[in-house]
Amino acid sequence: MNPLTIEIRPVTPPDVPAISSLAREIWQASYPGIITQEQIDFMLEQRYGVDRLYDDLEDLHKWLDQAYHNGRRIGFAFSEIYNGEFKLDKLYIHPDVQRQGVGGLLIAKVAERAKKLGYPCVILAVNKRNVKAINSYKKYGFTVRESVVEDIGRGFVMDDYIMEKRL
Ligand SMILES: CC(C)(COP(=O)(O)OP(=O)(O)OC[C@H]1O[C@@H](n2cnc3c(N)ncnc32)[C@H](O)[C@@H]1OP(=O)(O)O)[C@@H](O)C(=O)NCCC(=O)NCCS
Repeated sequence: MNPLTIEIRPVTPPDVPAISSLAREIWQASYPGIITQEQIDFMLEQRYGVDRLYDDLEDLHKWLDQAYHNGRRIGFAFSEIYNGEFKLDKLYIHPDVQRQGVGGLLIAKVAERAKKLGYPCVILAVNKRNVKAINSYKKYGFTVRESVVEDIGRGFVMDDYIMEKRL
């Protein structure tokens, strides 16, 4: 298959409502079977509500990138400085265009930024049951560093692997 022509642009305030909707669409397509619907709703509200996203845009330690194909917004990657490390915090590609290299392009963009800023690696957290994502991160050079269970409130936990990619 030919690689898609992708343009990566920074997210700006007018994009926020569309990013919030895109997150919901991708989460609904991806997470049933991995976490409960209640947890999906809770995490979407906590992390992708428009007010939260406007706050993220103002944070100098966060970078919000979005990917377009033929004028259509098809995914996004958020990265940030987290506890002194460079973290890929969110990576979501629309199901219509998954497995066509878009995730890889966004990972490369984030890794390039981390390297320019002098960080030795990029880290991320991924649900242990999200095999598709884990495989994709392995393909792009991430390895599992540790296993964590984090309480995120309202009785929910994130049961994750922390993965890292050396730069
Ligand atoms: C995980 C994700 C970001 C990867 O992005 P992508 O653009 O689909 O991935 P790429 O095309 O760059 O990489 C493809 C690799 O990912 C894995 N992968 C992606 N989709 C897959 C699928 N449907 N089934 C199995 N493996 C899959 C494979 O390892 C694949 O490599 P291969 O095609 O050589 O076997 C994307 O599939 C996605 O948004 N998934 C749903 C949301 C999610 O889980 N995000 C990560 C949260 S931590």
